[in-house]
Amino acid sequence: MTMVMATIDVASLHTAIPHTGGIKASKVLSMKGRTLLLLLSIWILLYIARYPEKFPALKFRSVVSETTTIPIIFVITPTYARLVQKAELTRLTLAFRQVPALHWIVVEDALQKTQVVRNLLQRSGIPYTHLSIQSLKDVRKARGTLQRNLGLSWLRETFYPEDAPEGVVYFADDDNTYSLEIFEEMRYTKKVSVWPVAFVGGLRYESVKVNMEGKVAGWFVKIFPSRSFAIDMAGFAINLKLILEKRTAIFRLDVAAGYQEPSLLQDLVTMEELEPKADNCTKILVWHTKTQTPNLRNDKNFTDPNVEV
Ligand SMILES: *[C@@H]1O[C@H](CO)[C@@H](O)[C@H](O)[C@H]1NC(C)=O
Ligand SMILES: *[C@@H]1O[C@H](CO)[C@@H](O)[C@H](O)[C@H]1NC(C)=O
Repeated sequence: MTMVMATIDVASLHTAIPHTGGIKASKVLSMKGRTLLLLLSIWILLYIARYPEKFPALKFRSVVSETTTIPIIFVITPTYARLVQKAELTRLTLAFRQVPALHWIVVEDALQKTQVVRNLLQRSGIPYTHLSIQSLKDVRKARGTLQRNLGLSWLRETFYPEDAPEGVVYFADDDNTYSLEIFEEMRYTKKVSVWPVAFVGGLRYESVKVNMEGKVAGWFVKIFPSRSFAIDMAGFAINLKLILEKRTAIFRLDVAAGYQEPSLLQDLVTMEELEPKADNCTKILVWHTKTQTPNLRNDKNFTDPNVEV
């Protein structure tokens, strides 16, 4: 919640800074007034430098200007506190920091952002935005939904469709394994690109059926094949401008398990418009791996609870 407020502040800041009327006004100010104004400006700059995480959009300007040559990949990762959280997120950082022009939007399922995730992000070397929103009770089946939607809201508050950078949006849960190739496959997505995902739906992999024209013609899945988009969260990426233009497209909470993906995609594209990647969807570049919950049978008050794991 505080995060959303901060973003709004920044949006109003941008429009307030380059205002010529302000310069004229300062000419008629007394010496004392000018000194005060100068001190105030210095204080504001120091404040921004000290707490950059409160000004995601300002921080963002520098990210954008450094990397104007290739589209930016915005990775939205919902995450929640559990024994293996830090290990899973650490595995993601090892891949993501090797990907050029990647901006990581990490959204915690928590009332407040945690120190564990904050520290991990600060040390990751990856440009990031850190947000949090707590799930409602009894929506465990739709875990991650509010968090992914907050990531979408952040993008829509940070960029206007007309002056947004070239970019693509990918939903990367923290329990999967990502090859570096998958990011280059998705980078130049025009609308929505798709590819196979391994170890999902009771199969070695799920995929799409690609026809002789190289277009998606159906779903290669066993579970709910009649869904309008029978595709896993890790199996598609969306052009940033499409997300910004279709402002009402979100993941819906009121749908059955497995229907999250279609609830968003059906407001954005048609099946015929999908762009098959990974050699016409024949290469596996992402896996549902999920680290198993560790066995702590010998740890009844044995290890130091102050040591962060
Ligand atoms: C995908 O399939 C189409 C149609 O068969 C073909 O023209 C195209 O070259 C294929 N692309 C790749 C990358 O294999
Ligand atoms: C756990 O160990 C600490 C330190 O050895 C001790 O003070 C505490 O009473 C123990 N707690 C339980 C539940 O055994």
